[in-house]
Amino acid sequence: MTAEILIPDAAGLARAGALLRAGLLVAFPTETVYGLGADATDDRAVARIFEAKGRPQFNPLIVHLADADAARAIAVFNDAAERLADAFWPGALTLVLPLRAGAGLSPLVTAGLQTVGLRVPDHAVARGVLGAFGGPVAAPSANPSGAVSPTRAEHVIEGLGDRIAAVVDGGACPVGVESTIVGFAPGPVLLRPGGLPAEALEACLGAALGQRAAHAPVSAPGQLASHYAPAARVIPEAAVSPEGALWLGFGHGCEGAALNLSPSGDLVEAAANLFESLRALDARAAPGQAIAVAPIPDHGLGRAINDRLRRAAAPRS
Ligand code: TXA
Ligand code: MG
Repeated sequence: MTAEILIPDAAGLARAGALLRAGLLVAFPTETVYGLGADATDDRAVARIFEAKGRPQFNPLIVHLADADAARAIAVFNDAAERLADAFWPGALTLVLPLRAGAGLSPLVTAGLQTVGLRVPDHAVARGVLGAFGGPVAAPSANPSGAVSPTRAEHVIEGLGDRIAAVVDGGACPVGVESTIVGFAPGPVLLRPGGLPAEALEACLGAALGQRAAHAPVSAPGQLASHYAPAARVIPEAAVSPEGALWLGFGHGCEGAALNLSPSGDLVEAAANLFESLRALDARAAPGQAIAVAPIPDHGLGRAINDRLRRAAAPRS
């Protein structure tokens, strides 16, 4: 099987909706990264996601919805969740909330947890696919488990092209790193830094977000130590290029870098370029050659970038 490549016009979106209704896998762009979508109410469809990604079964999936009302039908919102959804949906924010009894999701989506991760994406093509399908769509990032997330349809084809029914080609994802994930314990806790800066959430809430305890059990694969990894070894915080490595620069003063995440030092641009740059250098790296990455300021989207780089650099299990 080779994936159909769908154009996001009316016919392409209708085809995506029909394939999802048939229980098949359709990858589509969101503002963060490409998602690998399946009907979240269909056990067999959701199981196909795990099979295609080669993903450990204990990882729960994010459910994508057309609007906040559809999300309220699936999960119980508290006051803080309402405020965050009001302010940031549609957008790069996933809320982990108690699952409503009888919500109708496949238990595979939540990996048996009593909570569910929900997101209303802010991307015309994602919204078009959700509208054409007409129900909740479970969608992890559309890459083989542990590999770099896809920010273009070509990346999806490279990683999963022979394992999925279709990909809707919506070009490059504007944000480029996955959504920020917030859980409640019971106060809001940052589970994964992502495309929406934690500072913006804290400003909305008027309070600091709790941090996930370092010893807490893994509840998101983005929390696994080694994740988002290219094949080449990654060396973060390399202010100068180590001998023999391919250097991925950031900002000024990176003359000689193989690529630069943002020559002007713009964190938004750097996030959008992160995964594509890692892919490009991975393809260029000779056997054994490492990718060294210039230091990235640890605020705003820099926190998400540094989180992904630390995981890319972690020892592989
Ligand atoms: O931007 C994104 O979030 C992308 C696009 C496609 O929406 N999706 C994405 O999905 O990054 P994935 O599966 O690669 O990561 C989703 C994260 C996982 O770490 C998962 O464990 C966590 O969300 N998650 C989902 N439900 C959860 C729950 N009930 N409790 C804790 N974490 C949960
Ligand atoms: Mg992922």
